Amino acid sequence: MTQHKEHPWWQRGVIYQIYPRSFQDSNGDGVGDLAGIERRLDHVASLGVDAIWLSPIFPSPMDDFGYDVADYCGVEPLFGDLAAFDRLLAAVHARGLKLLLDFVPNHSSDRHPWFLESRSSRDNPKRDWYIWRDPAPDANGERHPPNNWISDFGGSAWEWDEATGQYYLHAFLPSQPDLNWRNPELKRAMMDVLRFWLDRGMDGFRIDVLWHIVKAEGLPDNPLNPEWTPDRTQRDQLIQLHSTDQPEAHAISAEFRQLADRYGVQPNDQRVLIGEIFLPNERHARWYGTPDAPQVHLPFNFQLIENEWNATRLQTMIAEYEASLPPHGWPNWVIGSHDAPRIAARIGEAQARVAMMLLLTLRGTPTLYQGDELAIGEVPIPPDRIRDPQHFRQPTLNIGRDRSRTPIPWDASPHAGFSTAEPWLPLNPDWPTRNVAAQESDPASMRTLTRALLQLRRQEPALSIGAMELLDAPEGVLAYHRHAGEQRLTIWLNLTSTDIPLDWKGTPLLSTLGSEPQPGVLRADEGLILA
Ligand code: NOJ
Repeated sequence: MTQHKEHPWWQRGVIYQIYPRSFQDSNGDGVGDLAGIERRLDHVASLGVDAIWLSPIFPSPMDDFGYDVADYCGVEPLFGDLAAFDRLLAAVHARGLKLLLDFVPNHSSDRHPWFLESRSSRDNPKRDWYIWRDPAPDANGERHPPNNWISDFGGSAWEWDEATGQYYLHAFLPSQPDLNWRNPELKRAMMDVLRFWLDRGMDGFRIDVLWHIVKAEGLPDNPLNPEWTPDRTQRDQLIQLHSTDQPEAHAISAEFRQLADRYGVQPNDQRVLIGEIFLPNERHARWYGTPDAPQVHLPFNFQLIENEWNATRLQTMIAEYEASLPPHGWPNWVIGSHDAPRIAARIGEAQARVAMMLLLTLRGTPTLYQGDELAIGEVPIPPDRIRDPQHFRQPTLNIGRDRSRTPIPWDASPHAGFSTAEPWLPLNPDWPTRNVAAQESDPASMRTLTRALLQLRRQEPALSIGAMELLDAPEGVLAYHRHAGEQRLTIWLNLTSTDIPLDWKGTPLLSTLGSEPQPGVLRADEGLILA
């Protein structure tokens, strides 16, 4: 299959997201670490994925659990040190896997030395590395933030600094000040950060909130969102017209790509950039750039998370997404992350199995979030164990993310083999039976299904790099062909919990139900792959 070889690894492969705090603790402090990840690499390799993306591992006060970076070129002591990182990278590569880091360019921690300098005085050379503005006084001479922007975590996006008499901008927590990418020195320093990690052997980056990194000149007020209702987040009160998706951010994204491309051009050697982008299709697609000035390889596509779990809706969404891609754009899909509710909590375990089949058979690169291969469901977090700052900023909205960040249950030993101490977040309540060891020996488990799907995907170029054609299907069913060369596969997914009469044809390769498929029917909660 020559065609197979020409596709770069990040198109053929599957990415597995590790949330380091919750994967494996190796030193008994209840928090996961790099040595723990290294210890569990066999689990990742045996699943059959191709690359690992690590959520942030850098020194951090952990106000936003690592997305508040205090040193872009170091390792958080909770997780280990640079030597532990190098060991992990070597161990990942030794297994033929790739390793991606999380690059957080929009904001640092307020304890980053750059910000400490920046806030020390108005004439500090690093003052302009962040976004400082005078207050906007009203008619009574009272102090107000410079504009109406709202933080993504709620409240004003501006924090007053008494000592220097100005506000600074923070799109997230007040302790996450936004960096000023219009400042050439800051930009150079951040490009050096990318070089630092690329030189160390990284295979790419997931880029945090990429579409946020440059703001409109003059920082005009954002328009009000006429569709806002009080059950939505405060952020949604405004349309983020001037605070995100600026042309200058696209230019920087193209520079990231130029740099990444200098480190590898061969299909198996390319350094991949995955941009976190939340935008409607047409604007989302622009983050691929052009063939002459490409931007990120994969602008993350969250639409399986955002859309109602309904066959008609998903079929339309998939068709519209595919149609929006530029000719050189490669699709990608996710069903879970450290920010989104667990898929099995949202649609139930039976449908989560169908979702796994969908994720791993759609055209495009899938990213699989740790724990979804065990179908971890809703994890109740007692009030005194809540940690997520997003919850504390808007406590009535039920948007806490702790329930998706709970530790991986490895076995039935104390603390599920995750740690010798009480973990930083509670385990899933069913951990004595829902754990890696139990699922490994259970042919009907989600882990077994996930492995089988990944194995099939590796065997069948039709699934990894083949073309896709959506099919007409009875109500409640999502169906498509995947084909490459002579091989054509058909995927039927029953997104409901009732049997649906269906005259399917072909040789069954895999059913989400495990048992033999029955002629004339797509059973309740069944997904089928046919040759
Ligand atoms: C997106 C990350 O995925 C999320 O966890 C974080 O809180 C924000 N960006 C801010 O960095």
